[in-house]
Amino acid sequence: MKRLFNTIDEWKIIQDKIEFEENRLAESIMSIGNGYMGMRGNYEEYYSKDSHRGSYIGGVWYPDKTRVGWWKNGYPNYFGKVPNSVNFIGIDVYINGKILDLGKAEVKDFYRELDMKNGTLTRKFIANIDGYEIEAKVTRFLSIVAKELGVIKYEIKSLNFDGEIMFCPYLDSNVKNEDSNYDETFWVNVSTDSKNNYGNVVAKTKDNPFNTEVFTIASVMNIRFNKETKLNTYSNREYYSDNTLIFDIKESETVAIEKYIAITTTRDYEENKLVEKAEYILNKEINKGYETVLQEQIKAWNKRWETSDIKIDGDDLAQQGIRYNLFQLFSTYYGDDSRLNIGPKGFTGEKYGGATYWDTEAYCLPVYLGTTSKEVSKNLLLYRYNQLEKAKENAQKLGLEGALYPMVTFNGEECHNEWEITFEEIHRNGSIIYAIYNYTNYTGDYEYIKEYGIDVIVEVARFWASRVHLNKRKGLYMIHGVTGPNEYDNNVNNNWYTNYLAKWCLEYAAENIFKLEKECIESVNRNNVSKEEVKMWLNIADKMYLPYDEELDIIVQHDDFLDKEFIKVNDLPKNNLPLNQNWSWDKILRSCFIKQADVLQGIYYFNDKFTFKEKKRNFEFYESYTVHESSLSPSIYSIIACEIDNLDKAYELYSRTARLDLDNYNNDTEDGLHITSMSGAWLSIIQGFAGMRTNNQTLSFNPKLPNKWNSYSFNINYRENKLKIEVNKDGINITNLEGNDIEVNVYDKKYIVKNNEYIAYRYVALS
Ligand code: BGC
Repeated sequence: MKRLFNTIDEWKIIQDKIEFEENRLAESIMSIGNGYMGMRGNYEEYYSKDSHRGSYIGGVWYPDKTRVGWWKNGYPNYFGKVPNSVNFIGIDVYINGKILDLGKAEVKDFYRELDMKNGTLTRKFIANIDGYEIEAKVTRFLSIVAKELGVIKYEIKSLNFDGEIMFCPYLDSNVKNEDSNYDETFWVNVSTDSKNNYGNVVAKTKDNPFNTEVFTIASVMNIRFNKETKLNTYSNREYYSDNTLIFDIKESETVAIEKYIAITTTRDYEENKLVEKAEYILNKEINKGYETVLQEQIKAWNKRWETSDIKIDGDDLAQQGIRYNLFQLFSTYYGDDSRLNIGPKGFTGEKYGGATYWDTEAYCLPVYLGTTSKEVSKNLLLYRYNQLEKAKENAQKLGLEGALYPMVTFNGEECHNEWEITFEEIHRNGSIIYAIYNYTNYTGDYEYIKEYGIDVIVEVARFWASRVHLNKRKGLYMIHGVTGPNEYDNNVNNNWYTNYLAKWCLEYAAENIFKLEKECIESVNRNNVSKEEVKMWLNIADKMYLPYDEELDIIVQHDDFLDKEFIKVNDLPKNNLPLNQNWSWDKILRSCFIKQADVLQGIYYFNDKFTFKEKKRNFEFYESYTVHESSLSPSIYSIIACEIDNLDKAYELYSRTARLDLDNYNNDTEDGLHITSMSGAWLSIIQGFAGMRTNNQTLSFNPKLPNKWNSYSFNINYRENKLKIEVNKDGINITNLEGNDIEVNVYDKKYIVKNNEYIAYRYVALS
C-alpha cells in the first residue's frame, strides 16, 4: 500500500506537492474522462521528466499484430488496443523566452485537485525560471454536456518581472502506444491546417491486414485570450498544428488563454465532414463563453451525483474512496452509446488495451442498474447481443457449437492470445447470461429476453452442451481444461465455479424456453430449439459434476486443488507480496494462492442457494489463501464477509476495493486505474453493508453498519421507484422518493413503503 496523496477531502483528490518519482502514479490518479474520451493527468506544458502521456477515444481501436513465442492453432491474429490518440491538451509555455518545464524549474506551492463533484481538474503552482517567477493556474475539463469538447484555461501571473509570456497551444497526432507490439505508430497523417487562433489535425488508423474498421479522427482547436497579443502566428506540418501567442506582461499582471478542442471521429460522421462538425461544436460552445460552459459541466455532474452519491459519515477515507470510484467509473461509461463498453483501465492507461472483458457484466452492470436509467444497462446487454454472430464464429474456431464470447474484444472477435485464458477461461460465457438474468430480474423487463436475450441464452447453452464431456465411469458430466476466475491456477479440471455456472446456464435456458413456449413461441422458433435439445440440456445440468469435499465440508475449487501444499497468506513473509511481482509464474501456478474470488464468485452470484453455514465455511477456508491480486477480488469477499457477519473483515476488504488506486494496494496503478473494479466499492456498500438483494423479484435489505461509520445513505433506482436508504446507529430509514407504493423486505420482514413516505426500522446495532 502506498498512499500518494495524504490530504483527504471528501469531494476532491488533492495533490499538494509535485511528484517526480511517482509521477506516473499521480498521472493515473488525476485522469479525467467523459465517456467519449479521456486522458491521464498529464501536464499541458512540456515536461522533461518521466511521464506517460496518454489520451484515448472510446471505440477507436487498432488491431496490433499478435506477438507470441510459439503459435497455437486458434490464436487470434491480432491484439486489439485503443491507440494513444492525438495529444490535444498540449500548450507549451515560455517565460521571457525560457521554456516552462516543471521537471527543471524551481517549483513552489504545487497544488492539484480533481474536483469530483464538478468534474474539473485544476493545477496551481509557482515556478521560478532563471529568476523569473510566475504563478500559474490551469483548469481543464472534458465536457459531459457536449461530449466532443475539451476545455483548458491556462493563466499566468508575473510575480517579479515585466517581460514576455509565450503560449504555444498545439495538436499532435504523432503519438505512440507504449505497449505497441512491434514499436509501430498506429496513425497516418491525413491533413493538418492552422490559422490565427485555430488549428486542426486529421489522422487515421493505419490500414491493417485483418480487415477491421479503420477510424479517422479530427481534432480542432480554437484559442481565446484576454489581452492583446504582441505576436500571434501559427504553423503546421504532418501530424501537427500549432499557434504561437506572445503577450507583454507586467509584474502582478495575469494573462490567460483558453483552448477549446473538439474531437470528431468516423464512428459518428463521414470522414469529409469531421472538421466541419468539430468546428460547428466549437462555435456553439465558445459562443456560450467559458463561464457558461464550465457551469453547464458543473450542473451536469451535480445531477449525476444527485442520483448516485453515497454519503458516509465518520470515515473520510471511505467517503473519498467511494466517490472517486463512482467518478472514474462514470467518466468512463455512462451508457450514452451502445457501441461502447468499459475497458478495465478505461481511458487511463494502455494495459488491457481498452477492450471489453467479463468485468462489465460481472461487476459493472449492477452499479448502472442501481444508479442510472434502465436504458444504460440495456445498452450494455445489447453490446453483447450485437456481437452474437462473432461469438458463434469464435466457438466454431475452437471446434465447438453455440457461442463463446471472447475474453477480450472490441467487435466480438477474440483478441487475446494466451491459450490458458483465451481458450480456457470460458467461465466468462456464463457471466454474459448471468447479466441477462440480473437485468431482467432487476428491471422486470422480460421483453428484452423475448426480443434479444433468448438468442444469446440459447447459443451459450449450446456452447456448454458441446463443451462438457460425459465421464462414463461416474455417469457425470465434466468440464476439463479450464481456467477459473483464479488465474493463478491454469488448465484445471472441473473448476467448480465454471461447472456450476454452466449447469445454471443450461437450466436457465430451459426455464426461459418453457416460458416463451407459452408467451412468445416466435422467439423459440427463431432459435430452432427442439424439445429434445432442451431435454438434453436438463440432463447435462442434472448430471453435472460439482467437486465437494465431505471431510472439510467445503466446495472444492477444482479437482486437485486440495492436493496442494497449503500455506496461509498471513504466514507468508510480507516481502513476497504481491506474488505476481516477486515470484516466478511457475511458482505461483503450483501454489495454493488464489488471485481472486473463484468459489466465492459463485457463492456471490447465487447467494440465495447457500446457507449461512456454507458461506461461512467456504469463506473462511478460501479467504485465508486469497491474495486479492486482481482488483476485482476484495469486493466479492467483502460482500460475503457481511453476509456471515464478519464486519471487520468486510470493512478491511471494502477499504481495499474503494481505495485500491488511491492507496495503490497492488502496486500497479501507475499503469492506469482499475476502472471496472471501481464498481466493487459500490457493490460492497450496497450489496455488502446494506445487504440489498433482488432475489425472486423482491427488493430486500439486510443492513449492517461498520463500526467506524456513524451512518451511510444512498439512493437507488429499482424498477419504477427511486428510494433513499439511510442506515445509522439507531436503525434504517427507507424513503420512497418516486414511484408507486413498493414492497420492501428489511431483515426478512415485509413492509410497504408508500409514495413520498418512509419506513423507519429501529434495531439493536450489531457489534
Ligand atoms: C483478472 C481478470 C480480469 C482482467 C481485467 C485480470 O487480472 O484476473 O478476471 O478480467 O484482469 O480486469
